[in-house]
Amino acid sequence: MTESINVSVQDPHSYSNVKEIRTEHLSLDLEINFDNKTLYGVARHKMSVSKANTAIFDINGQVIQKITVGKKGAEKEADFVIGKMDADSVLGQPLVVTIPNGTKYINIYYQTSSRCDALEWVEAKHTASGKFPYVYSQGQAILTRTWIPLQDSPANRFTYDATLHVPKGMMALMSAENPKKKSTDGTYHFEMKLPIPSYLIALTVGDIGYRAFDKRCGVYAEAPMLERAAKEFQDLPQMINAAESLYGPYAWGRYDVIVQHKSFPFGGMENPMLTFINPSIVAGDRSLVSVIAHELAHSWSGNLVTNESWNDFWLNEGFTVYSEHRIMEELYGKELSNTLCEIEHFELGEELKLIAASSHPEDARLYGSLKGRNPDDGMTSVAYVKGAYFLKTLEATVGRKKMDAFVAHYFEQYKFKTIRTEQFHTFLNKNLLYPNNIEFNTDEWFYLEGLPVNSITIKSKRLDLMRIYAKRTNAGEDIFAPVKKVRWILVKGKKKKRKETYTEQLKIKAFITQEWQTYLRNLSLGIDTARLDQIDRYTHFGEANDELKFEWFLLNIKKENRSIRGKLKVFLVETGRRKYILPLYRALCANTKDKAWAKQVFSEAMGGYHSVSRNSIASLFNQ
Ligand code: BES
Ligand code: ZN
Repeated sequence: MTESINVSVQDPHSYSNVKEIRTEHLSLDLEINFDNKTLYGVARHKMSVSKANTAIFDINGQVIQKITVGKKGAEKEADFVIGKMDADSVLGQPLVVTIPNGTKYINIYYQTSSRCDALEWVEAKHTASGKFPYVYSQGQAILTRTWIPLQDSPANRFTYDATLHVPKGMMALMSAENPKKKSTDGTYHFEMKLPIPSYLIALTVGDIGYRAFDKRCGVYAEAPMLERAAKEFQDLPQMINAAESLYGPYAWGRYDVIVQHKSFPFGGMENPMLTFINPSIVAGDRSLVSVIAHELAHSWSGNLVTNESWNDFWLNEGFTVYSEHRIMEELYGKELSNTLCEIEHFELGEELKLIAASSHPEDARLYGSLKGRNPDDGMTSVAYVKGAYFLKTLEATVGRKKMDAFVAHYFEQYKFKTIRTEQFHTFLNKNLLYPNNIEFNTDEWFYLEGLPVNSITIKSKRLDLMRIYAKRTNAGEDIFAPVKKVRWILVKGKKKKRKETYTEQLKIKAFITQEWQTYLRNLSLGIDTARLDQIDRYTHFGEANDELKFEWFLLNIKKENRSIRGKLKVFLVETGRRKYILPLYRALCANTKDKAWAKQVFSEAMGGYHSVSRNSIASLFNQ
């Protein structure tokens, strides 16, 4: 029997009735079966004291075998109904359990099905070490409900423990206290003793090893990646120290990073105690470590103080980008953090233009209106960069000292709580603006579209030089060609000088990723494809790190330079990060001649994509 149930008032993306009755502790006991790619077991919910006679959970795609109430061993079967699937199947279905008065424990026995968007199952042959299969989860925003039946709203926090049974020889990890060595019998137990929102429950199972940096942090990865990752992320202990000195003690005990399978759809994900990082971040020159600073910063903004609904997502991400820049400045200096800021500001400008012309111009507001839509639609530069520029502008107004104290106070005040935009507004007025007699256009920032005119701008001198290089290239100059030069050298250290010729050549190593990114973004579409091929012969942008490969391929697609197709195809098959592959497919689809080719590549590659990337790209072909 199915019936219609409305989503809850305070969270438009959850059916759960957390205001009436909510999970306080979740205890999972799950068997991980790689043969049929399912999880099987029980989710035991310890509920709050309540007079409610139903408890509503979110599910999406699981098979519910039975539901009981009562403590383990003294359980009684309970009645339940599963509500209708929402029209576009984004939210899944409400699971309504009838509960006797005073119910404390609700136990849901279930199995995941092939329709489980959170989990990515990888066959052994597609892993880095090739010996064992691999599986990981991605919960944010509303995918945890596809692998665990629970109240999937960030408005609620709870502690959890889990017992996982995995094939012998494999390592299991969660967003919790983790093992450093494989267990002998394939059984692992996990505890997350601090209350977290449901989107932060996460797991990874694979042939994984560990390297410690110090007593509280280290890196997990498959063996072929482990050493490279440890080198790339060696500044992690310093980053944690820097964050702590800005925002107060790190609350979660350990901070480890796992370099995920290449299909991972995001650059990073701040699962508590175990940040997930895309292998594309291991660039070889530490040029993309700001992603680590970002995920670390979420240990305060997001994980400690959490957005109450996905409409308040900017409170998670805007604060995180803001503090990411502070951490980067602390470790690597102001010039680098300014470089990152300027690049992001450019991206925000581009995105604001697209949003203004789209069917949802209201997406340019910080406070989101995502009701009836996929909360992932809120993952734009608006939440991230406009959010961060709001805080930077505030900082420029009140001064750094007051701003730092305010932010630390905010984290302290709301730690282990959730927060709405309007609550934050009140807190800001009371603790920063009124006491300092400052008038600030907060309403405009939160509730109107576009970037307010009082937004500060940040410039980096390093990028000016790259724009000059781009200008020279656009004007037809071959800036990468070797040039013969002459210099005078002393003969045997004596006064006599001799003329010497030497060649000078602009090398890719001379500048960091973000500088070349700016160079490539400033190349005009007027330059011909033969020139692009020539640039590639000198620079090998098509074989550089993923960030540069992406820029290079995008430019070449726009220029209809099809000589890159071989390398582009390899990239599209090998990379799962949505930020790269979605815009590439989108650019290909803009041209009818490339669209058919892109569709063919997608059909070959999609089996290796996580659902987050796969679904976004599939929608391009369904238009
Ligand atoms: N929490 C996000 C990832 C996310 C957001 C997943 C919304 C699902 C829904 C994570 O912290 C993030 O922002 N990742 C960025 C990296 C960052 C440096 C901007 C990414 O993946 O690109
Ligand atoms: Zn983030």
